[in-house]
Amino acid sequence: MSRSAHPAGPRHADVYPEGHYTAPAADLNVLDEKVWARTVRRDDDGVVSVGGIEVSRLAEEFGTPAYFLDESDFRARCRAWADAFGPDADVFYAGKAFLSRAVVRWLQEEGLNLDVCSGGELTTALDAGMPAERIAFHGNNKSVEEIERAVRVGVGRIVLDSFQEIVRVAHIAQSMGRRQRVQIRVTVGVEAHTHEFIATAHEDQKFGIALADGQAAEAVRRALRLDGIELIGIHSHIGSQIFDMAGFEVSARRVVQLLAEVRDEHGVELPEIDLGGGLGIAYTSEDDPSEPHQIAKALNEIVSRECEAHGLATPRISVEPGRAIVGPTAFTLYEVGTIKPLEGLRTYVSVDGGMSDNIRTALYDAEYSVALVSRASDAEPMLVRVVGKHCESGDIVVRDAFLPADLAPGDLIAVPATGAYCRSMASNYNHSLRPPVVAVNDGRARVIVRRETEEDLLRLDVG
Ligand code: LLP
Repeated sequence: MSRSAHPAGPRHADVYPEGHYTAPAADLNVLDEKVWARTVRRDDDGVVSVGGIEVSRLAEEFGTPAYFLDESDFRARCRAWADAFGPDADVFYAGKAFLSRAVVRWLQEEGLNLDVCSGGELTTALDAGMPAERIAFHGNNKSVEEIERAVRVGVGRIVLDSFQEIVRVAHIAQSMGRRQRVQIRVTVGVEAHTHEFIATAHEDQKFGIALADGQAAEAVRRALRLDGIELIGIHSHIGSQIFDMAGFEVSARRVVQLLAEVRDEHGVELPEIDLGGGLGIAYTSEDDPSEPHQIAKALNEIVSRECEAHGLATPRISVEPGRAIVGPTAFTLYEVGTIKPLEGLRTYVSVDGGMSDNIRTALYDAEYSVALVSRASDAEPMLVRVVGKHCESGDIVVRDAFLPADLAPGDLIAVPATGAYCRSMASNYNHSLRPPVVAVNDGRARVIVRRETEEDLLRLDVG
């Protein structure tokens, strides 16, 4: 998706190649608050700070690359979601976006529930004291061990993803003398991709049970017959980084339609629906995400309207935002190393991390912003590609962006909106060490996930 062929400015127009960039901002020193965590500021001396601490001090103390997470912003976003949906709905933070024990504690303090999708996430949640009944367990291929553990600890719900799993969970729960609360995940026939949603061949993906062809209705039929499970509702998650509410609207409409069919066939009104996560955030100044209260209002209206039309009582709604809570709250801080200007193309700026700490650019062609943060600069904008230090040419962190032309090795640059799916998808490629996550709040910084060490690498390599 090319935004514009050339940046503004006659001096650059004839030297810059086609790319995914817009004109450079009028002043590269200005940080667009849309993409940066809320307490990020550029101070009078030109150095950027977060939570009242300058990034140069953070780099000195914690090293680079590192993720810095604005705790007050994270908490504020949790509260905004909880307040927007109110006491008659449930907000489940999607732990896959980023999970640590500190995060689990913040969620509890701010009144959120948690969606986990693996035994590892469940362990982290329980270890940090999240009450099991506030946990939803997801996944298209949960192991028997994971299901047994989830049932044993008493998770609030297991989201069933296939016909086999309906039987498997019911059997396991029954053999443990339990009745497990479950939802059935359905695929509603819309798939959302970034700014658009398209009708999709719903059978052609691994998640959920298709509403079409009566598959989901059959799943409900089977679930209602089994003693080991209590079917409390229907779940739908349509995709990620969505800006348009239309996909949710279709999803809600189809889920409510199923509730009506279930009522007609079984005389049972399922009390809950979960509309999943997927709400987009601003990675660049081009993105315009909705606020939680707008999303809550839209979803509540759609569900109430559809339920009224079918003569159903409005079910309890839950949502599962991950990215929209944690994504904007963190940035990755890198030190600039090699700078390689390619005449007539662009300048390659190498940093001390790369695809091992942010795979999203390589994997999804994701777009990011970047800023020089260790000082201000009045130099001309220079078209750059920020790349990592891995042995792979696709090791790109920011495909196209502008940084000041006087950028030099040793400068600190930061990539905002890396709170979601960066640390959680980080790897040890080239035996690199996964960066720490440092929570910053009100003049204090503390490591919540420490940097890996070479000893960690050797510990796993048992010879
Ligand atoms: N609920 C369910 C059932 C999900 O599968 C997901 C994400 C979420 C909630 C949270 O979605 P969010 O609000 O964070 O968009 N690695 C990709 C995203 C994969 C999302 C998978 N499921 C990325 O980096 O964009």
